[in-house]
Amino acid sequence: MKPFTAEAVAARLGTRWLGRQSIWLDVVGSTNDEARRAASEGAPEGLLVVSRTQSAGRGRMGRTWMSPLGGLWFSVLLRPGGPPSPTLPLVCGAAVCRAVEAVSSQPCGLKWPNDIVLLPELRKAGGLLLEGHVGDGNSWVVVGIGLNAHVNLQDLDPEVRAIATTISHEDIRTELLAAVLQELESSYQSTDLTPVRERCVTLGKQVRVEWESGQVEGLAVDLDPQGALVVQTPDGRTETIWSCQHCTILG
Ligand code: BTN
Repeated sequence: MKPFTAEAVAARLGTRWLGRQSIWLDVVGSTNDEARRAASEGAPEGLLVVSRTQSAGRGRMGRTWMSPLGGLWFSVLLRPGGPPSPTLPLVCGAAVCRAVEAVSSQPCGLKWPNDIVLLPELRKAGGLLLEGHVGDGNSWVVVGIGLNAHVNLQDLDPEVRAIATTISHEDIRTELLAAVLQELESSYQSTDLTPVRERCVTLGKQVRVEWESGQVEGLAVDLDPQGALVVQTPDGRTETIWSCQHCTILG
């Protein structure tokens, strides 16, 4: 089995600046918290924080993110120099899909807004959590990425296991991390949603989207230029949805 170490990743890394400086931990509450702390103290763009496990991993909407050994749990620090593009989470998600597919040879898609899924079953293989700060002369975005690279599904709670998958039965974390960093570096500044639309498994599907004060069911027809999901309802209305608690693909 190949080692998953800072040295092994550095030896494979083809990036110019992303991940060239890194913090490696065996366990941490959340790599996003470590990266946020470093960002507020002025850490440079490109800082990578990796941990073999997380004791308080977070998902979207403050949900718990289970982070057992064998997964790839990391955060990178970007400094877009102002408010980040609203499309950044989707552009990063598509970059992650390309890396997963290149390393594992399994078709990988993005389930709007932030789920990394393997095709054709659309089981969840990972997710992204972007957190940012603008102002005080110190603007930053932390891109937190969790991938079930090589996890034992028995290590996940039953309700997570029911919808999850592992990307590989081999330890591919070294190759996968190097590939994700490469894809992110080459694409994160783009606002072109074409590669996102190509990866977005939600488009063309019947969906139910739920948010705090409502829900809508219909056909997911497109992403608007800001990355919001455009849903056409059976009565012919078009709803543009910016964020949600759940987006379920119905068929
Ligand atoms: C989601 O699907 O809701 C997003 C999950 C994001 C998990 C990653 S793991 C690395 C980083 N640290 C965290 O606490 N969360 C992100």
